[in-house]
Amino acid sequence: MFSSLEKLSPDPLFRLLEQFQADQNPNKLNLGIGVYATEQGEPYVLPVVQQAAREVSVANFNYLPIGGDPLFLKQTARIVFGDMTDQSSFVSQATCGGTHACALFAELARRGEIKKMIIAEPTWVNHRHIFSGFEQTSISHLDQEGNPNIDGYRTAIDQVTEPTVLLLHGGPTHNPTGRNLTKEQINLLIQLIQSKPIFVFIDFAYLGLGDGFEQDAISVRALWSQLENVAVGVSFSKNATLYCHRTGALFVKTADGATVESNLRRIMRTTISNPPAYGEKILVNVFENHFDQWKGEVDAMRQSVERRRKELVSRIPTLGYLSDTRGLFGMLRITQEQIDTLKADYSIYIPEAGRINLSGIRLDRMDYLVKAINSIIT
Ligand code: LMR
Repeated sequence: MFSSLEKLSPDPLFRLLEQFQADQNPNKLNLGIGVYATEQGEPYVLPVVQQAAREVSVANFNYLPIGGDPLFLKQTARIVFGDMTDQSSFVSQATCGGTHACALFAELARRGEIKKMIIAEPTWVNHRHIFSGFEQTSISHLDQEGNPNIDGYRTAIDQVTEPTVLLLHGGPTHNPTGRNLTKEQINLLIQLIQSKPIFVFIDFAYLGLGDGFEQDAISVRALWSQLENVAVGVSFSKNATLYCHRTGALFVKTADGATVESNLRRIMRTTISNPPAYGEKILVNVFENHFDQWKGEVDAMRQSVERRRKELVSRIPTLGYLSDTRGLFGMLRITQEQIDTLKADYSIYIPEAGRINLSGIRLDRMDYLVKAINSIIT
């Protein structure tokens, strides 16, 4: 019955995770999937989230509204867009994590007959699949010096004549390069986009983990306030360590709000019916009762990532190009053969193209990591 289907490749990040889990080497290191581990390599759940989870009532597991918990959406919008946001002017939808926010937006754009998109490579591996079916103009996210390639973005935007999605990453973090467009470059893009039939979609998965909550939101707020057609997908997997509880949101600013809302609700109802509640309930508790503690704990996570990045670069100065990257990721300039050697000889797991999760670095295995990397780059 399914003989016409093509057999597809497994997801590279989850496949690598399975290989890591099966590896018996006691020194193994997982620098793959974007999950924050402690400096000793332990799984980490923010203490504030653990406490808020204990306080969540288990007396009522009735369904949430199809759109999600209104308080969760209101508070999430406030964190992302700031206090001044008029929440009646856009559509809010709780999602099953950030991936689902991307997928919902992609489905909405398909229904809206937007057929084209601009996608800057490299990008998160899953973006390609989520936005498959769009006619993709692929540009290079970084220029030859490794800086954000504003000219590439500008040229692609200049050429737009038909409805087109422009995919951007929110904040200073970028997955996988760790380098994103600056505030000034975003302001330039805003000028260029204003006269074009472009719908900007911002994948915002690392709020707080770049330069801090307020700093990270600046460019997203500039795009949101100055463009007519813009959507933001938010994830709480990383900054609330809620990975498996799939907690996120999609916000869409458009003149066709009522229509868009009805379509999002229908897509939800016919797929997962209504969003999972546990993460939303935990976060409503965090937002209302433990907000400052949460921010402080996310700041500490970010500082730990910085510590690990600095330590790696100071021990291997030829990796100096990672110094000014932001967020969990940076890309080692190594070949696939070198990546394979790190896995085969040292049980160090790095995904394709050399992206490393800096928050996977164990300070107690730094000597081991340094020795391994030195052995392949010298
Ligand atoms: C990553 O890029 O590793 C994370 O965003 C996790 C994921 O879902 O791929």
